[in-house]
Formats: sequence, C-alpha cells, structure tokens
Amino acid sequence: MAGRIPQHFIDDLLARVNIVDVIDGRVKLKRAGKNYSALCPFHKEKSPSFSVSPDKQFYYCFGCGAGGNALGFLMEYERLSFPEAVEELARLAGMEVPREHDRPADLAREQQIKTQFSVLEQANQFYQQMLRHSPNRQSAVDYLKRRGLNGQIAARFQIGFAPPGWDNLISYLGNQAAAPDDIVTQLERSGLVIHNEERHRYYDRFRDRIMFPIRDMRGRVIGFGGRVLGDEKPKYLNSPETDTFHKGKELYGLYEARQHSNHLDRLLIVEGYMDVVSLAQHGITWAVATLGTATTAQHLERIFKIVPEVIFCFDGDNAGRQAARRALDTTLPVIRDGQQARFLFLPEGEDPDTLVRKEGEAAFSQRVSEALPLSEFFFRALSEGSDLSSMDGRARFSTQALPLIQSMQPSLLQQMMMDRICEITGLSLEQLSSVIDLHRVTEPAPEAASRAPSRTPTSLPPEYAPPAADYADYGQLAPSDEPRPPTAQHTGNRSNRSRGSHLNLVNSAISILLHRPALAAQLPAASELEGISEPNIELLVALIDYLQTTPGASLGTLLVDWQLDNTHAAWLMMLNEIAHLDPILAGVDAGGLLSDTYSRLLERKVESRLDQLLKKQRQTPLTDNEKKQLQELLMRSPPSSH
Ligand code: GTP
Ligand code: MN
Repeated sequence: MAGRIPQHFIDDLLARVNIVDVIDGRVKLKRAGKNYSALCPFHKEKSPSFSVSPDKQFYYCFGCGAGGNALGFLMEYERLSFPEAVEELARLAGMEVPREHDRPADLAREQQIKTQFSVLEQANQFYQQMLRHSPNRQSAVDYLKRRGLNGQIAARFQIGFAPPGWDNLISYLGNQAAAPDDIVTQLERSGLVIHNEERHRYYDRFRDRIMFPIRDMRGRVIGFGGRVLGDEKPKYLNSPETDTFHKGKELYGLYEARQHSNHLDRLLIVEGYMDVVSLAQHGITWAVATLGTATTAQHLERIFKIVPEVIFCFDGDNAGRQAARRALDTTLPVIRDGQQARFLFLPEGEDPDTLVRKEGEAAFSQRVSEALPLSEFFFRALSEGSDLSSMDGRARFSTQALPLIQSMQPSLLQQMMMDRICEITGLSLEQLSSVIDLHRVTEPAPEAASRAPSRTPTSLPPEYAPPAADYADYGQLAPSDEPRPPTAQHTGNRSNRSRGSHLNLVNSAISILLHRPALAAQLPAASELEGISEPNIELLVALIDYLQTTPGASLGTLLVDWQLDNTHAAWLMMLNEIAHLDPILAGVDAGGLLSDTYSRLLERKVESRLDQLLKKQRQTPLTDNEKKQLQELLMRSPPSSH
C-alpha cells in the first residue's frame, strides 16, 4: 500500500491545474461568456446543460446534477479511484505525488520497491554493456544484424545481451560498490535470479539471450523479455510476476512510443517484441506488444486513456483469427463513445516484422488504414458459420450476438450494432429484448466458472470462455480475473404476476426443458401427453414437439421461430414467466428430475381419464369399449386415494 497523499499537496495541485484544460481534452467545450458549456458526458442530452466555471474551478450539469472539481471530474469520467485521479492530475501538472507514511510497513515496502527498481536498472545497464563488451558479444550482434536492426533503434529500445554462463549478473552486481548487502535476495525478488533449493544455489534467469527491457509509463525498467539466439526452446523468456511487473497490465513499447511522440492518436497492438522494434525502425513508432498473453481489459483501459483508437494486428492464420475473436470479446465491454477499435489481418505466414521489412512503411500503413472497424469484424466473425439466409442461421446468429452486445457500455456503437441485428434477423427491438431476457434466465450455469471471464456484466455462452492464457506452461500467467458473479439475476420477482405461472408439474417440466433443451430427446413423443387437462399442457406438448422434431433446435431457434409466428406470442410470454420461476438447476440431476416429472404427468393422464369415465358413467351408460378401458384403469390405478 502506498502511503496517504498529504492534503496540502492536493490543495496545491488543484491550485495549479486549470479545470478547463482537464475537461477540454475529454469533452468538447464551447465558450459561453465567463464559463464554458458542453453536452454533458454523464447523461444523454441534445442541448448542452453541462458548464465549467474557470473562476470557481468547478463543473456542474443542470440536467443531471453532476458536479465537482477537477479531481471529481477525473474520477467520474475516467472511473478512477481518488488516488488514481490525483496521480493523473499530477501527471498533467508534471508533479510527483508525495506520500505520507504513517505505518512503518508502508515505508519499508516503499523502500523495497525503490531498491527493486534500482536493481532492475542496474541489470539493464549490465545487459546493454554486455552487448558491447562481452567476449561472446559477436553472436548477439550478428543475430541482431541478421534481423535487420540498426544500432540506433537498438539503443532507443535499450536492447541488451545476457551472456552465456550461470552467474554473470550475480557476480557483476555483487561486486558493485553501490550494491545493497542482500543483493541476491533483491535480484531474486526482481525476477532476475532463480534459487535452486536442492543445491542451495542462485543462478541467473537470463542466459545467452537478447534482452528487451520492459519499461513502465515513467520509463522505469520493470522486467525483461529475453530471446534465444537460435532455435532453442523456450524462444522467449519473460520476467515472472513481481512487485513491479504485472504481465496482464503492461505493454512493451508503450513508453518508447510516448517518448517518440507526445501526440499519439492511435496505437497498434502486435504480438511480439521484435515486431515493435522492427516497426519502429521502419517509422511505425506507435506499436506496442502484450507480453505473451492475450490483450486484457486492463491493457485496453490503459490504452484508451492515452489514445482514442486502437488497431489490433493479427496473423492471417487460424490462431490469429482466434486471437482476434478473443480481442473482440475483451474490447466490447470496455469501448465507449469516442473510442475506436479496428482489426488488421496480415497475410498468412507474415508477422508485422517480416511484412514491414518486405513492404516498407507506406504499404504497411496502407494496410493499417484499411483495417476493419470493430462492428465490421463483429458481424463478419459472428455470421461465419451461420447461414443468414436461413431461419436457423439467423437464430443462431442472434443468440450469439445478443449477449455480446449486451456486455457493451451504453453507447451509440451499441445502438448501431443492435439496429444492425434487427436488420439481419428481421426482428424488432422489443422482440429481441424479450429474446435476450429469456435467454439470460435460462442460460445454464457455467461448468468451468474459474475459466470464464468476469469482465462482462452478463454471462457469455460457454463457447466464449477464453482458453487459458498463452504459455501457461511457463508458469507465469497474467493475474486471473476475479471469479464471476452468479448468473441468476432474476429471482422470481415477476413470478406471481399472472395466473398459470406457478410451479406445478407442467411448469416444472417446461422450466427444466428451457434450461436443458437437449433433454427433450430422451422423452417419449409429445403426443403421449395429449388428453391431460392441466394448465399450460398445450405449451409443454408444443415445446417437446418442437425440440424433438426441429433439426438443430435450441432455445435460440425456438425463440426466433415462435417470435416470427404471431400465434405463439402468448406462449412466449408464458415461457418467459416460467423461466423466471426457478432458474436454479445447478447441481441437480435435471434429466432424472424431468423423467420423474414426466411419469407423474402420465400418471395424471391415467387419473384424469379415470375421472372422466367415472363421471360419464353416472350420467349415461358407457360403451363396451369404455367399460373395458375403465376396468383396465381401475386395475392399474395406484392406491393413491386410499
Ligand atoms: P521472433 O521469432 O523473434 O520474430 O519473435 P516473434 O515475436 O515473431 O515470435 P512469436 O510470434 O512466436 O511470439 C510472439 C510473442 O509471444 C513473443 O514476443 C513473446 O512475448 C511471446 N512468446 C513467444 N514464444 C514464447 C515462449 O516460448 N515463451 C514465452 N513466455 N513467450 C513466448
Ligand atoms: Mn517474428
């Protein structure tokens, strides 16, 4: 925990920055007399009721009542915590945030981190020196030359060389005058040396590798990536997670990109260290790479604070397309109005490094400018494998697309995409929203909860659960997302609204089938149930019949088929009600429950036929056939009434 921020610093900071500058970069302000006005960024409006007063250093919205000072604005607008907002404001003002330490533990930790940064920087210097002076330097220099890197770019990225040998770094730093006493412990904490427990030995983590220092936004070295010079495995080795290094957050090349230009308007996300460096050498100085993991929401949030546009770059092969799908799923919940994401696919067999060397900057930039906008890619990716000219295909498409669109921030983009789904499926917004609603409550609880992403408020269908992060075998993963919240948002709050939607036998069977449509296949034909007089029995019969006889039937196809057939409207509403009654089937043997329910229903059929015959017998003589039936039924009737 960092220490408390002293109040005098906050006062000083607020006195130094002008709220107009803070807001103007984010919301388009127009001069209005002494003040400025704008469309309020905190609620939807057509005429501006948001105003900023430079005199009072205050903003206020007459429409929604939002208001506050520059810090309050940053907290609201960028969704920052208070200390984060102070950091951001201090960055704008070029000030360093001081901390008050009231607990010795904080002080010690602060000191520890400082030492760690210093150790990492010394290692960085060491690796760079080794590229120039190590006796083994030639192999490294040759390698870099072969990869086409010039000295200037190597210097800009501070590329270095970890020479072969087990303890070069340890002995070098251990002999430094300025080295802290417990240098080996510090090196271990910084991820630079590894402790072999059995042999009680420490040795260098990075040996005989080209070293890429990874720097944070302030230029401090926080970790390294190291590449072998040949074909050995693993090709790349990254620093492990440490107090200073968090793989799921950091981006290689971000510091260098910002150093190069203080007016970045977009960032290109590529896969590899070499891609970033090689692109920079060819003039594309605004590329960054994730550190061997998929792009995370944290990455994107960081990027969107710096630039309004991100372009994802993928190889044109299958793995690239899969990575793109994952990036799409990660981006949707994060992106807001005013921000843009695009998708660039390279020709098969190329990566940005090989391509920019082959084609040069102009041709590569041309490709970037033709990258697919997010919505374009979204509709292409989702309609793949669904034949949109068929009803089934459209159903499948909308049940996949809707939860994703629902995961988005309320935005124009979201509305636009929703409109497009309406166009494609031919359904109205109201119809679609009832599809969403029904789909949400009836979605099965995810089996592999720990693998599923939590960043979206809605639960995604299981096929969207991302594969475990790349390179899990190296034991160094991005911190996993928090466990996801339970799925059932609706708990019977609509249950008693209309007659017929309480949990009786028929509704139970319907409810189970809604949650596990595949179970219909194991039931006898729906016609078996005909002749039972129970509320909603026709609905159950129709549901079973649909699920049993429609090829490729799913809840999605049912919703769309029934939506399109107006005579089923009442049934759909009833399904919706029933679906809300009892969404909890997790951990229950649903198949057993269903067949049990089904046999009890068949029992009812016997009983109701019996009732019917007995009643009739009192009024008119029965036919021979009826008599026979009655006799049979009486014989097999269970002794329930006795
Ligand atoms: P070059 O072969 O040097 O051109 O590297 P590349 O960046 O083109 O390699 P590749 O596309 O195979 O990998 C992209 C990124 O994935 C690398 O920059 C690393 O961050 C990561 N990566 C690749 N291989 C490994 C590996 O073996 N271990 C780990 N931890 N990360 C890897
Ligand atoms: Mn490469």
